[in-house]
Amino acid sequence: MIDASTLERIIDTANVIDVVQDYVTLKRRGANYLGLCPFHNEKTPSFTVSPAKNIYKCFGCGKGGNPVNFIMEHDHLSYYEALKFLARKYGIDFIEKEQTEEDIAQKNIRESLEIVTGYGQKYFSETLFNHTDGKAIGLSYFKERGFSDKTIQTFQLGYCTDKRDDFTQSAIKAGYKLEFLVKTGLTVQHNDRYFDRFSGRVIFPIHALSGKPIAFGARTLRTDKETAKYLNSPESEIYYKSKIVYGIYHAKKAISDKGKCFLVEGYIDVISMFQAGIENVVASSGTSLTVEQVRLIKRFTDNITIIYDGDKAGINAALRGIDIIIEEGLNVKVLLLPEGEDPDSFSRKVSSSELIDYVAKNETDFIQFKTKILLKDVNNDPAKKAAVISDIVKSIALIPNNLTRSLYLKECSNLLEVDESVLYYELNNHLIKNADQKRNKRTELPIQQTITQKQPPVLSNKQFDIVEKEIVRLLLTYGDKELFYTENDVSQSVAYYIINEIKNDDIVFSNQLYQKVFELITSFYNDGNPIEHKTFIHNENPEICKLTIDLLTPIYDLSKIWEKHDSFVTSEDLMLKEVVPKTIISYKYARIKKELSEIEKQLKAKLDDSQIQELIQRHTILKQILIKISMLIGNRTI
Ligand code: CTP
Ligand code: MN
Repeated sequence: MIDASTLERIIDTANVIDVVQDYVTLKRRGANYLGLCPFHNEKTPSFTVSPAKNIYKCFGCGKGGNPVNFIMEHDHLSYYEALKFLARKYGIDFIEKEQTEEDIAQKNIRESLEIVTGYGQKYFSETLFNHTDGKAIGLSYFKERGFSDKTIQTFQLGYCTDKRDDFTQSAIKAGYKLEFLVKTGLTVQHNDRYFDRFSGRVIFPIHALSGKPIAFGARTLRTDKETAKYLNSPESEIYYKSKIVYGIYHAKKAISDKGKCFLVEGYIDVISMFQAGIENVVASSGTSLTVEQVRLIKRFTDNITIIYDGDKAGINAALRGIDIIIEEGLNVKVLLLPEGEDPDSFSRKVSSSELIDYVAKNETDFIQFKTKILLKDVNNDPAKKAAVISDIVKSIALIPNNLTRSLYLKECSNLLEVDESVLYYELNNHLIKNADQKRNKRTELPIQQTITQKQPPVLSNKQFDIVEKEIVRLLLTYGDKELFYTENDVSQSVAYYIINEIKNDDIVFSNQLYQKVFELITSFYNDGNPIEHKTFIHNENPEICKLTIDLLTPIYDLSKIWEKHDSFVTSEDLMLKEVVPKTIISYKYARIKKELSEIEKQLKAKLDDSQIQELIQRHTILKQILIKISMLIGNRTI
């Protein structure tokens, strides 16, 4: 159906970097470019684009191809539609044979739905600008809300007359099939009669990432309570509402450029902020934020700032949103607007520069936000405060990177004046719980421990395992790193510290595999050799290989992550100083607790005097150590 020379022109012109960059943020790596793969969820980039070969390839999921393949795969288009898309992008005349009715019928459903939706968008825009009612009702409404002509055109806003079926009639006359009109939801069928779904409403087209309209939101202009304020298109083969955010097409470039995305509640908020000069803004509109929506944003940036109304519903939505965003490994901030304002009203009240200024000054990280919100009702009630802390730590536990977690924990400790070690126990509980839930297993953990406990709980076997694994991970990853200096200014490594702490107390790990790796590391260390990952990754024991790969892979480039976070400028070494001793001390504490409870159990059995004597002695010593550790880590418990 496409003219051969047109095809050739498109293929010669379409440049893979150009095409991919509309969807993926690419960074130069030598001769190639690298980015996060849009076809699978990944945290470290493995999507490679070669400008020389004009191809892309993902080393994570294996997808690869030329620019046409990319558009087909990405926007779920047929070969033909992808070519058409590229022709439009490069201003190439798309010459094709005239389509017969038969051709139209043969197109797959997706294409038909897109075409019908595109027709709807044009019809509603046309009505808005040219129809008497459109101008008098729709256009004047948008003007009243402060939208300029340019804004209205950019977002392709429209109006649907309040007659029963003006739109449907016109669409049918133009040759569009009723079947698709109904499928897109533009037309509602009632028995044998057909109505325009959006009649009497102003229209906000929802655009796919490629800029195509795929659905509509439609606002009533009536103020009575019985009429739903918004009506949205139903889901269809081209519109999954949980997978798209409103405004992404218009915002994507600004999001990449600014390295940040603002998330607001609705259509009007997006448009008002965009018009006010903040173009990196999207809305989850009509649904509470979903994981897929966060992943969509993540293709362009790792930083999201939520701007919701300061009312109860807004705050609750923000709280839910925070957890979804951090769980996907993004950084989230929150901005509360002055009482009674939403992004729309506020951006019209102040000038563009005031708005930009206000946003920059008032966004806070999620810990500060949660603390402020949740502490409001506490009034010095320790039990309530404990619940708040638990709630915040629960969010922190969702952060995938554990050094990021420890930084937030530190901030939380400062803000709430609770000792960090106490928070670590709380955190561990949540981590284990989350891991269990992920594995879809029923947990046999004790009921959730809260912070009100004066002392950290006894670790279960599973928890032991996690802490032991973490110790091995710290050794492997940071063993050769310098931890601190002695009084004589001799530098001591992480390995030195951990190995001494473990050996001096004659500790043997409960998990045999970890013990093996620990011994291997120790022998390296004792021989004065660096801890070489190669030896572990290619170890003759396959279990060791597997464990090391597991432990070494998911580590991020820390310094990079924290560079962005101006609120925490801290070095990796500084974090190690916190994390390493804390992990060790927590582990020891737990071991002692466990041994104590074992002794107490043994004491209940029938024993002779000398045995009892021995056990009691050991018990006393352990108790004393325990008290010392408690003083070290628990002296600021609430
Ligand atoms: N929404 C919806 N259906 C509703 C109400 C709301 O889909 N019945 C979605 C819309 O995307 C809307 C957003 O939720 O934009 C926020 O709702 P709301 O704040 O009530 O509307 P605004 O867009 O702010 O509209 P307005 O300022 O005109 O009241
Ligand atoms: Mn509003």
